[in-house]
Amino acid sequence: MGNHGKLWWQSGIVYQIYPRSFQDSNQDGVGDLKGIISRLDYLNDGTKDSLGIDAIWLSPIYPSPMTDFGYDISDYKDIDSLFGSKHDFQELLAKAHQRGIKIILDLVINHTSDQHPWFLESRSSKENPKRDWYIWHPGKKGKAPNNWFSAFELQSAWWWDEKTQEFYLGTFTRQQPELNWRNPKLKEAMMDVIRYWLDMGVDGYRMDVVNWYIKDDQFRSNPWHIQWTPPDLQRHIYDRNRPETHEVCKEIRSVVNQYQDRMLVGEIYMENLESVEEVAKYYGNQDELHLAFNFAFLHQKWNAACFHKQIQRWEKSIPQGCWPNYTLSNHDQARHYSRYAKKGESHSRAKVAAALLLTLRGTPFLYYGEEIGMENAKISRDDLRDPLGVKAWPFLPGRDGARTPMQWDNTQYGGFSSSKPWLPVGNHDFSKTVQAQKDSPDSLLSFYRNLIWLRKSTPALHSGKYEPLIHSPKHCLAYRRFTQEQQICVVLNFSNQKQTIRLDFSDSPCQILFGTHRSPGEKMPTNIMEILPYEVLLLAKG
Ligand code: NOJ
Repeated sequence: MGNHGKLWWQSGIVYQIYPRSFQDSNQDGVGDLKGIISRLDYLNDGTKDSLGIDAIWLSPIYPSPMTDFGYDISDYKDIDSLFGSKHDFQELLAKAHQRGIKIILDLVINHTSDQHPWFLESRSSKENPKRDWYIWHPGKKGKAPNNWFSAFELQSAWWWDEKTQEFYLGTFTRQQPELNWRNPKLKEAMMDVIRYWLDMGVDGYRMDVVNWYIKDDQFRSNPWHIQWTPPDLQRHIYDRNRPETHEVCKEIRSVVNQYQDRMLVGEIYMENLESVEEVAKYYGNQDELHLAFNFAFLHQKWNAACFHKQIQRWEKSIPQGCWPNYTLSNHDQARHYSRYAKKGESHSRAKVAAALLLTLRGTPFLYYGEEIGMENAKISRDDLRDPLGVKAWPFLPGRDGARTPMQWDNTQYGGFSSSKPWLPVGNHDFSKTVQAQKDSPDSLLSFYRNLIWLRKSTPALHSGKYEPLIHSPKHCLAYRRFTQEQQICVVLNFSNQKQTIRLDFSDSPCQILFGTHRSPGEKMPTNIMEILPYEVLLLAKG
């Protein structure tokens, strides 16, 4: 048990590292495990000089042809030499654990690489025992069996195999054939993979596209439905979100339950962003995922009322006894600093967004570099690497802009590498580096660090309950976070204007714990408050 009856993945903060882009130790322009080890002290050395995160989620580090930069795995039980060796991984695990940092691996089990030995066997003949480990179909009159569409290739997701004269399914790129989770032998092999890293000591898995695991057994076509956010052409009722997926989640959970203190956080990528209730179903009856990613904020415009609505919906959707989570940025979406940018106000907005993420009830997932305000980089066509970005250019932005090297200092390649990085360093605004921000009290990095450490020492913030104090907000959010012993009031002004608000929090003046405009320790009344533009304020009762 961690703090106040909560487990580490509930009270703690998870930091996502995209390993190619965090720190390069061997100067080949690609980040690696030794690089990450060298930066562990930055993440948490046990003192308030470090960021203070509790867990790292590593995007995939397994052997891969890198068509989708590791989300196409060719060996589930090894480390790609680009990132290091298994020995390096064990060193990372041990050194992270010494610092109290947990390690979460990415588990990509909806599909493999087409170079995985399982697929090579599967495609070798129709009679091969692993044929049925993947999804094969003879097609209809020489055509694909249905209208299922590839998310990255922007055409049919069915790929013709000349040798065996059947189609296989690949919903991302054609090099990512989809596994057949209805096959018991495949399941058994995957459970073995899951045990392998848990036995080594990893603390959990981030599970890729959970709601895509099972496909309709009758291979029915999806209804067409064109939408822009996120871009899609279909309602995915037959190739995703099948009810049987929940059974798979339960089986995986029962394996993980055999280990102590491990966790599963799953990506439930819904084309309909309003489907939070569907997402929450993946918590099951506390017998599926420990956390189902809530992506509502990734697509949320800058508006206090809309944030409020999303929080309320999510709080209501989470099954009894389960725990929420929030994310502002990840490796698939434009960085939020840029999404919320406004001339002269971006820095202030980034602080309000960070305060929201770090003070709501639920596990915060941070994306590397957000703590220094890394922006979504503009990548020239020649530098594009993301298969989706290359395919969809110039219509869709692709994902490279969110994956540029971590900006440590103002040397040529940002302190990430001394060689030309695999993606260009995002922006050369030298205030956007760890070096420039670490000793500056007003920096975004100091803001994240101070608030993270305050959160750690404040049970109401990391483990307490949540209750809104303004029920129909316009410009300011205000909420109570509380345990039996502690009452905290969080006030966030999303606007560039002064706001007057009335709160029913405390009859007597409260102590300022943390904020952007006022000094901690001062007292102020909470019944009528004047909140300054983009002010963040945390107050304690009593
Ligand atoms: C979701 C991952 O987040 C994304 O990066 C990847 O390309 C696809 N799944 C395919 O694995």
